[in-house]
Amino acid sequence: MPETITITDDRTGKTVTVPIEGGVFPASAIRELDASLYVYDPAYMQTASCKSAITYLDGGSGILRYRGYPIEQLAEKSTFLEVAYLLLNGDLPTQAELDVWTHDVTHHTFIHENMRKRFVDGFHYDAHPMGMFVSALAALGTFYDGAKDIDSADSRHKQVLRLIAKTPTIAAMCHRFSVGLPFNYPDNDLSFPGNFLSMMWKVGDDYAVDPVLERAMDVLFILHADHEQNCGTTAMRVVGSSNADPYSSAAAAASALYGPLHGGANEAVVRMLTEIGSVDNVPAFIDSVKEGKGRLMGFGHRVYKNYDPRARIIKDTAYEVFEVTGKNPLLDIALKLEEAALQDPYFVDRKLYPNVDFYSGLIYQAMGFPVEMFTVLFAIPRTAGWLAHWQELLADGDQKISRPRQWYTGPNERDYIAMSDR
Ligand code: ACO
Repeated sequence: MPETITITDDRTGKTVTVPIEGGVFPASAIRELDASLYVYDPAYMQTASCKSAITYLDGGSGILRYRGYPIEQLAEKSTFLEVAYLLLNGDLPTQAELDVWTHDVTHHTFIHENMRKRFVDGFHYDAHPMGMFVSALAALGTFYDGAKDIDSADSRHKQVLRLIAKTPTIAAMCHRFSVGLPFNYPDNDLSFPGNFLSMMWKVGDDYAVDPVLERAMDVLFILHADHEQNCGTTAMRVVGSSNADPYSSAAAAASALYGPLHGGANEAVVRMLTEIGSVDNVPAFIDSVKEGKGRLMGFGHRVYKNYDPRARIIKDTAYEVFEVTGKNPLLDIALKLEEAALQDPYFVDRKLYPNVDFYSGLIYQAMGFPVEMFTVLFAIPRTAGWLAHWQELLADGDQKISRPRQWYTGPNERDYIAMSDR
């Protein structure tokens, strides 16, 4: 069978044949047929916007791999910092490489005092932490001369280090501001997740990071580190394609993540479970979703038409966390909802399965995070993925500034009407 596709323009009879490689054919075929002909593809449903060697996702089979490594193996055996290195560099580090990377990240966790004293302190007392986080990312870039020097490999590496190291510090700072607690400085003796938990929760000197919660946090960071061309990563690439600095690009990506249809869904899941209130109310809630009165949050995915492999791992992690924190009372409602939905033809026919957000919120809540922090928790590890895509974009000779075309549906030319005649 030839691995080609032939397209005929019936208006002119002109035909173009192009290769199909990896399930993709070049849109330049359309340009060859007629340079003023475009493909209408809202939400990029059928468009591959780039080549990428970072994350492989097979939504039909529920497969997710970072640089070829199955997510299940990474969640079981790796750490977030090792995974971040893998995403950014393409291969797992040697021990020596990991030691240098860990040392460098650990020694870039502090942020300029003005970020806290002048910038964050200027927010209204009830500012949403994710809104603060988004703005803080963009503001951070203004502190570094080299931020815009994206043509220098050394400078790019330094900004990558800074962003990965400082996002937990910024995230914890946003939370401490929200609840009116003094800011905890990073502790370089702790692990990446341990330091974050310490900055979040330490009051006085008597805080010790629980090893089960530290590992659970690391696993959650691993699971959220990348997910190929999702809305946030696409925002990172689109803004990065204008040669904007990585802080501004990451702020754009974080803004996309903020939306309730994307990273904001875990917050929506906990609110939904709280509103349902009891296992007895699950059937009525399912009926209301089927009647179109809202969505079952934490279910469905643009790409996964099977169980999201991350949801499976998170469900297991939830039970480990509950051993330490006590069971989240919303768990029973979530389990009942999942059971009901997976048996209901409405959800089965539409291939709607739990996604990464369905159980993550329950863990975060049991660990004491307020719901407003959930998307921020997602953004910390996803920064590694965004930066891996940003590096890949800058090295890709096929890429140019992102600039889609439109299908104009407005009025044809018409003459201006004087105010007195309207
Ligand atoms: N509850 C009920 N019905 C749903 C749901 C849901 N969660 N998701 C999709 N559907 C239905 C739609 O109503 C539609 O039905 P129809 O064919 O009768 O009109 C059908 O399934 C297809 O839905 P689309 O909206 O076309 O699917 P799309 O790929 O555009 O949406 C999305 C994917 C946004 C994730 C959607 O499933 C959703 O809104 N889910 C809830 C929010 C959520 O959990 N988001 C987190 C996603 S994971 C992440 O971003 C990290």
